[in-house]
Amino acid sequence: MSHRIKIIAGNWKLNGTPEDAIEYFSSISKLGSTTKNTNSKKVIFPVAYCLHKEIQTAAKNAAFELGAQNVHWEDKGAYTGELSASVLKKIGINWCLIGHSERRQYFGETNESTGKRLSRAIQSGLNVIFCIGETLSERETGNMNSVLEAQLLPFSSILKANPPALNQIVCIAYEPVWAIGTGKTATPEQAEEAHQFIRNTLSLSLSNQDSKNTSILYGGSVTPENVASLLNKPNVDGALVGGASLKPEQFIQICSA
Ligand code: PGA
Repeated sequence: MSHRIKIIAGNWKLNGTPEDAIEYFSSISKLGSTTKNTNSKKVIFPVAYCLHKEIQTAAKNAAFELGAQNVHWEDKGAYTGELSASVLKKIGINWCLIGHSERRQYFGETNESTGKRLSRAIQSGLNVIFCIGETLSERETGNMNSVLEAQLLPFSSILKANPPALNQIVCIAYEPVWAIGTGKTATPEQAEEAHQFIRNTLSLSLSNQDSKNTSILYGGSVTPENVASLLNKPNVDGALVGGASLKPEQFIQICSA
């Protein structure tokens, strides 16, 4: 597994056309964010029809990489609407998201299915951002830690059974569901507390080094205004950004924090 690095990722969800994507990366290039830093990554997760070569090149010119918002656990077969991890890799895509709360909420994603997807993604050589997070009622009823533990279980067991390659990045995004798209960002203290809990939980099943090396991103209403205070916390290794990643001017500000 790769060492711990900073990652700023943008999740476009079901927004944007291929034309928008080309324009977006050309605006980013014009705005001047072409710095390449080996200890940090900038990744955009657009809709699947924006993953083709022309957009990959536009992203690369702006020092960004592209990723898929989901992958299936089988490489091919009768799985309508799914994406194959090995084919993504073959067409030049190196990243995927797994277990985003919208997949869990609206599309029946479970801890079991996230584990199967993760396993396939790792075997196919993709870098992964594995998303977890509690709902407001889970937090308010004192169940947050047990929910996070259950969501982390497939992550640690798959990583143990299936260690990623040395240069492969497999990280976690902590995204409290109540913070996603609501403007109610977790405070830096709340984020740090959850990230510390996640790292401690990982250290119970992974080696000390692997749990230390796992980047843990925060997601949920990240903006140019609040990103620096979140990233200042020792266990916050990056951000997964929805709404604010759609506007190049805003996303550039987030990346430069
Ligand atoms: P948001 O979305 O930044 O719009 O809250 C984050 C996410 O869903 O990853």
